[in-house]
This record gives sequence, C-alpha cells and structure tokens, in this order.
Amino acid sequence: MAKHKQEKQAPAVLPKHIGIIMDGNGRWAKLRGLPRFAGHKIGAKTFKTITRYCNQVGVRYLTVYAFSTENWKRPQEEVDAILKLLDEYLDDAENFKKENVRTRFIGDLSALGEPFIQKIRHVEEMSKDFTGLTLNIAFNYGGRDEIVRGVRKIAERCRAGELDPDSITEETISSQLDTAGQPDVDLIIRPSGELRLSNFMLWQSAYAEYIFMDILWPDFAERDLDRALAEFARRNRRFGGV
Ligand code: IPE
Ligand code: IPE
Ligand code: MG
Repeated sequence: MAKHKQEKQAPAVLPKHIGIIMDGNGRWAKLRGLPRFAGHKIGAKTFKTITRYCNQVGVRYLTVYAFSTENWKRPQEEVDAILKLLDEYLDDAENFKKENVRTRFIGDLSALGEPFIQKIRHVEEMSKDFTGLTLNIAFNYGGRDEIVRGVRKIAERCRAGELDPDSITEETISSQLDTAGQPDVDLIIRPSGELRLSNFMLWQSAYAEYIFMDILWPDFAERDLDRALAEFARRNRRFGGV
C-alpha cells in the first residue's frame, strides 16, 4: 500500500540531485516579533521533514545550504545560535539511523574546530553505507571557496609532477570538489523570494533548473516540494541541444 502511495506522488521525471537554499528564517521570525534564532530553530525542523520526504519519494541526492562562507558576517549571537543547532543535530543523528540517509558535509569544516569536526566525521562514518538518500549539508560552504580549494589540490599535483596541466579536464575539476563522485545538481530550489544563488554550487549548477518560491523556509512543507517537483517535470531541458 505504502509503495502504491509513493508511486502516485512521485512525478514522472524526478531530479536525481536537488539543492535547497534554506532561506527566510530571519524574516519568518521578524514577522512574528521573535528573535532571528527562533526562525533558525523552526527552519532546522523543516530541514528534517523535507530530508525525510526527499528520501521517501526517491530523490537520490539532496544538498542543503545551511551556512555560507559569508554568513560569519552576522552578529556573533546569531552565529552561535546556528552552531548550537548544528551541534544538537549532530548529537541527535544516531536517532536517524532507521531513515537510511547517508549524511555528508560539504564546505570548509576546518573553521569549525576539532570537536565539531570529530562529531561530523562520526556521523559521516556511521551513515556511509546507508543506501537511501545521500544528504549533503553545506556548512561554511561557498561555491567559490570550494573551487579555490579544488584548484589548489590540482596545482599541488602538477607541482609534484603527478599531473600534466594539459591533461586537466572538467572531470579533473569536478573530482576535486566536495561533491566528487556525485551527479551535478538538477534542480535548485530557493524559498524566501530572493532571486540569487548566493555562492551556492557554482560549478555543479551549470545546467540546473531553478525554482524560486515566495515562501519562507520555516513554512516550507511537503506540498511545496511536490509543487517544485511537478514544475521540474514540466521543464524542457536541452543541455545545449535541440
Ligand atoms: C537562512 O535564513 C539561514 C541562514 C542563512 C543561516 P536567513 O537567516 O538568511 O533568513 P532571512 O533571509 O534573513 O529572512
Ligand atoms: C544564503 O542565504 C545562505 C544560506 C541559506 C545558508 P543568505 O541569506 O545568506 O543570502 P543573501 O545574503 O540573502 O544573499
Ligand atoms: Mg537570508
């Protein structure tokens, strides 16, 4: 029965890899006269609901933008609140075992410090053989920063004489990014009404479809993902062909 329901919900063309820019937490809180932190807290709940739903409908890869390389500019109090939510999520991760989600982090984790890094590695290690959705949590992530880190690794290999610069291809670069081995993102969803990428998956989004939605992330529900999936299924992707 459950299987039948799932098939009915899943649109004909399902994106293999979805990226979500989880935006609008601050405005959600402000509208209610609450501190910004309150929006992040509900946003973290939404993240769990939508991750579970993506897994359920058969999406293979989901990348969520949780904290950008630029978000350190925010007031210390807000940054601390977001780090605390990350910490709580990591402590809770053991409880998601039954969900079969392979969880990975992308971004420059070195800025987070050793205790965080250890917890993150533990969650990645614990879930590495899970066969459901692969979830990438982008934390201290910037598309440009990711490319810079990748290019440095390539340059090192050239300097060591292991790689001939003439043999560098698009695949060489893809393989040095944090998403190495994963398919490019097919669909990027940005709630909150902003019409920009804000440094998200710059390389991987070359042929992504974009869906911008006028809803704030804490209000985002399963039906909104359904709407986005239905819209994606209607798009005609040509990849430069006819
Ligand atoms: C997204 O919500 C969460 C992070 C960037 C960490 P915002 O905090 O950017 O919410 P708005 O855009 O101010 O409403
Ligand atoms: C992008 O949102 C980053 C995340 C959602 C984590 P921002 O709120 O930081 O982006 P801008 O500042 O509106 O471009
Ligand atoms: Mg924002």
